[in-house]
Amino acid sequence: MCGIIGYAGARQAAPIILEGLAALEYRGYDSAGIAVLDRDGMPAVHKKSGKLVNLATVLQDSLPEGVTGVGHTRWATHGGPTDFNAHPHTDCDNQIIVVHNGIVENYVQIKESLIAEGHAFTSQTDAECIPHLIESYIDQEYPFEEAVRAAAGEIRGANAVVAISTREPGKLVAFRLGNAGGLVVGYGEDELLLASDLPALLPHTQDVAYLAGGEMVVLNDHTAKYRTLEGIGITKSPMHVAYDALSAAKGEYKHFMLKEIHEQPEAVINSLRGRVSFDDLKVTLDEFDISNEDVARIDRVVFLGMGTSFNAAMVARHWMESLARIPCEFDNSSEFRYRNPVIDENTLVVSISQSGETADTLASMEEAQNKGALQLTLCNYPGTQTTRVAEHTMLLRAGLEIGVASSKTFVNSLIALYLLAIDIGTRRGTLEPSRNRELVAELARLPELLGQALADESQYKALAPIFGRRSDFLFLGRGINFPLAMEGALKLKELSYIHAEGYPAAEMKHGPISLIDDDMPVVALMPRDDLYEKMLSNINEVKARGGTVIAIATEGYTDIEDSADEVIYIPEASSMVSPVLMAVPMQLLAYHIALWRGCDVDQPRNLAKSVTVE
Ligand code: AGP
Repeated sequence: MCGIIGYAGARQAAPIILEGLAALEYRGYDSAGIAVLDRDGMPAVHKKSGKLVNLATVLQDSLPEGVTGVGHTRWATHGGPTDFNAHPHTDCDNQIIVVHNGIVENYVQIKESLIAEGHAFTSQTDAECIPHLIESYIDQEYPFEEAVRAAAGEIRGANAVVAISTREPGKLVAFRLGNAGGLVVGYGEDELLLASDLPALLPHTQDVAYLAGGEMVVLNDHTAKYRTLEGIGITKSPMHVAYDALSAAKGEYKHFMLKEIHEQPEAVINSLRGRVSFDDLKVTLDEFDISNEDVARIDRVVFLGMGTSFNAAMVARHWMESLARIPCEFDNSSEFRYRNPVIDENTLVVSISQSGETADTLASMEEAQNKGALQLTLCNYPGTQTTRVAEHTMLLRAGLEIGVASSKTFVNSLIALYLLAIDIGTRRGTLEPSRNRELVAELARLPELLGQALADESQYKALAPIFGRRSDFLFLGRGINFPLAMEGALKLKELSYIHAEGYPAAEMKHGPISLIDDDMPVVALMPRDDLYEKMLSNINEVKARGGTVIAIATEGYTDIEDSADEVIYIPEASSMVSPVLMAVPMQLLAYHIALWRGCDVDQPRNLAKSVTVE
């Protein structure tokens, strides 16, 4: 959840670290800090609660000088967002300086025994025990990097740590425990960097190597030396990653999220490229190149994810069951991992995680791995943790997504899942060739249809002041669009801080209907499909109780205007792809209401882009 950056090279470290923190701020933004060592090893440590701008303001006239340093942007787990609790943390003598991401599960015991030895703590964080633990080994004459390795051996939980020492300026020592919190080493010209995630490294280098759980790295004298935490040397070659500088800038848009919403047509084209042939109307997934015999033996598919990725998993069940006729289930990763699920080698587990770092999704994948399931993961970045656990990876190809709320990664998750269902259905013979061709041909229209859905935002702008003061919303959907009702409610909650619930429309009568009054808007997702009439009955029930209905309906069917108070139209398409188009009004409604309420759209309070702790 937190963002870490480290620099060891020839340039001034502070500007590079601050720029890196800005690129990582989506990971956590309740406080930020920086530590720089000058050539003699004298440390300058600055930390400030609140957003990065608070730290940058403090430093604007006096950037610390030095060519080695670390920085941190925090998402609090232990201890509130105060200056003291901000990272970096130091030992008693301010000689060991540490930034940390994760949770030290046994920090209470470690802290108590260090206090008993005479160490003095200044924060309420779990992280502060790490520099003191390293210090305790240095006191026993361990060299710096050995002291870090020994400390790593005592810490429990999933953690990523970078440490520097005033006694060895120029050296960065980092380790990773478990799966949470990525650490990527960047190989620049005459310099090395280390960060939680690629956006902080890409302005400096495209050559990177990932640290896996149980590994450590020492950056010194332009070389990166890798070892396991048992002390065995490892050779790692950097890989070259693509970087589109344009996608890292907001351009003409007010927010990254708005830009990312508008990038969806192009993101979908990228997702289809090479996977769909529009000449012979075929789907070919090279990333899921299992034999037809293996496809035939799949007797169950389990879709896993959290948050928006979980909502995508729910849609996927509809597609896979209807096109491939395989029994499917979906589960929230955090529930799946603890319920001892019944899965075996004939189960296909499909995990969805745009970040590839979500702790619960990783743990659930490990559970599936232990039980021998076949695994495919969907992820936006190559080389992340989820891609290491699953045998097969489909990249989302959405490009950098900086807004904390997922938008284009959701739509591209849907596309990948739809292609998967078509591919498996075709290979199992449950999808008729003519139907297959119909579905594939429609995919060619999808970017254009998304463009149409995005063309005019004036209606959303007009609705924002009408509904922006409401405190509760209900989102209703049926069938394949029920998960989109969940997604609409999630988007509204996270962006605008308005309470919202997504419900299967029929469920409304079993409780939520008692909430309906003239103060609670109901967003009804009702494209013209087989369930339209049922949705119509549901909104009439809402209207009969004085409720206000915002219908999201299919263009060209204006009779809905007799029943709903407001209507937002989406282009006509088959019910199969309607969830992809339905994503747009869910995003834009939430975006414009949040904007009108003055909320921080790109970095909503309390959230983080990758949730690397349980
Ligand atoms: C969605 O807008 C949120 N940012 C959140 O629910 C997110 O989808 C969830 O944390 C899962 O993230 P992942 O896809 O990176 O695993």
